[in-house]
Amino acid sequence: MAVVCTNRLSLIVKFIERHNKIFKMSSLSGKSINVNLGDMRIKYKDKSKTFTEDQLDCKEPIGQFKAWFEVASKTPGILEANAMCLGTATKTGIPSVRPVLLKGFSDKGFKFYTNYESRKGRELAENPVAALTFFWEPLRRTVRIEGDVEKTSDEDSDEYFTSRPFASQVGAHASKQSAVIAGRESLMIKEREFLAQFSDGKVPRPPCW
Ligand SMILES: Cc1cc2nc3c(=O)[nH]c(=O)nc-3n(C[C@H](O)[C@H](O)[C@H](O)COP(=O)(O)O)c2cc1C
Repeated sequence: MAVVCTNRLSLIVKFIERHNKIFKMSSLSGKSINVNLGDMRIKYKDKSKTFTEDQLDCKEPIGQFKAWFEVASKTPGILEANAMCLGTATKTGIPSVRPVLLKGFSDKGFKFYTNYESRKGRELAENPVAALTFFWEPLRRTVRIEGDVEKTSDEDSDEYFTSRPFASQVGAHASKQSAVIAGRESLMIKEREFLAQFSDGKVPRPPCW
């Protein structure tokens, strides 16, 4: 993937054939696609509603995040206020981004849980920095967070894993995150195997979670 930044106002993102599979699928249609979205816009708030510093609830960022998060959590139309985009990159700087759920925050940082063997897990292992964004559209609000990333303790992971619903715990065993699988049926088979294995309802946390 290459990003060509022509000037401050326009940014062209060029996808070079990195993910052959995606390109093979799109070329199956045989038609080229070129969609211009230049006119797609909504009316933003007018100048009388400009956000100014005196509207801040708190002069330090975590306190401000807490205040905004509480509002977002109670705003109708925001289904998951804790959904955020997590950006990671390989050691050589190839970026990737996906949604994850915020599972806690404090003065020490922002916490999410994932599979250490997933793509994001592998990228964080080789390049332990990340970027997060929240976009609370009904509030017209975004928050950007960047920083170093470290693993939580085993005890913390255990506690969270135990709090997950049984089906999600079994899913963590059955599904290898980010891996290509033979098909849905193979996943279903694995799920049935693990359901049988953990029929007593006790599911240990897989070491990669
Ligand atoms: C709303 C939403 C929340 C998600 N939350 C998580 C999460 O907390 N942890 C996680 O590992 N994956 C989560 N996922 C799945 C990820 O977006 C992603 O598909 C998966 O983790 C594999 O990502 P990777 O291949 O880039 O590592 C979530 C997906 C959605 C749509």
